[in-house]
Amino acid sequence: MYTLGLIGYPITHSLSPWIHESFLQQMNLRGTYDLFEIAPDESLADALEDLKEKGVQGFNVTVPYKEAVMPLLDRVDDAAKQIGAVNTVVLRDGEWVGYNTDGKGYVRSLEVRYPELFLNDPQHVLILGAGGATRGIYSALLEKNCARITLANRTIASAEKIIAQHDSPIESDVASLTAIERKLASYDLIINTSSVGMKPHTDDMIISLEQVRKETIVSDIVYQPIETALLREAARRGCGIHFGHTMLLYQAQYAFELWTETSPTVGSMGDELQQVLEGN
Ligand code: ATR
Repeated sequence: MYTLGLIGYPITHSLSPWIHESFLQQMNLRGTYDLFEIAPDESLADALEDLKEKGVQGFNVTVPYKEAVMPLLDRVDDAAKQIGAVNTVVLRDGEWVGYNTDGKGYVRSLEVRYPELFLNDPQHVLILGAGGATRGIYSALLEKNCARITLANRTIASAEKIIAQHDSPIESDVASLTAIERKLASYDLIINTSSVGMKPHTDDMIISLEQVRKETIVSDIVYQPIETALLREAARRGCGIHFGHTMLLYQAQYAFELWTETSPTVGSMGDELQQVLEGN
């Protein structure tokens, strides 16, 4: 019997129970996935003790606790340390162990959509944005066959900080959003990791795609709406596109593997999730 869940505050409209309960069913495992709201005036350390007493064997972490939970865990995996955030915790021999599945989940979703992407020539990757979501994605991409990764952000110092926190033989550089618009033709993969384009500002695009080549793949982690203005414009220019909502499923798949040591398939859940998000 698995007792799993999510900590955060506030927790509204979380898709995680739906995803993890589908995985439990698919793997014929008995269990539950509950939402544990922890208010800012409560002690996070006490809340973690409570979870142990309730028999919780694993949980996800969402805002505002992804960083705050780290010093309270018994161990944190090296990748999560480098990212500076934990989104998945596993109880191992009575100890809480922290991981970050966001970036790896994102890259998995990208590879499912484009299986050849990292198999041939080293890729030139452009990441737009330098916020919390960027860290995991940049870190996971450093494990892939990339020739160069550019981080372009409104605030360049944030992009510089992310690069400085990682040690990798892959060349990384930073750029302003305006400078990068003129250099889009040199990238094979462009990923928006910023919140630009999210409801209700659905007409916003973080950069103009005027100079993009049609061979470039454009990806957006914004999933409300699923087809952002950036992806719509990329598709209009003949580019391959990748929708951000599938990242939710693959980061969950990876967390589920850590908790149960079983690997559910995501299969048709992408289409189902699209319907849930579109309110059908
Ligand atoms: P998260 O943790 O969800 O990634 P975040 O840390 O607030 O969210 O990061 C949001 C990202 O979107 C940042 O890169 C932010 O740019 P700044 O670092 O300059 O703040 C970017 N962003 C948000 N609104 C933007 C806008 N209107 N134009 C350009 N970038 C924007």
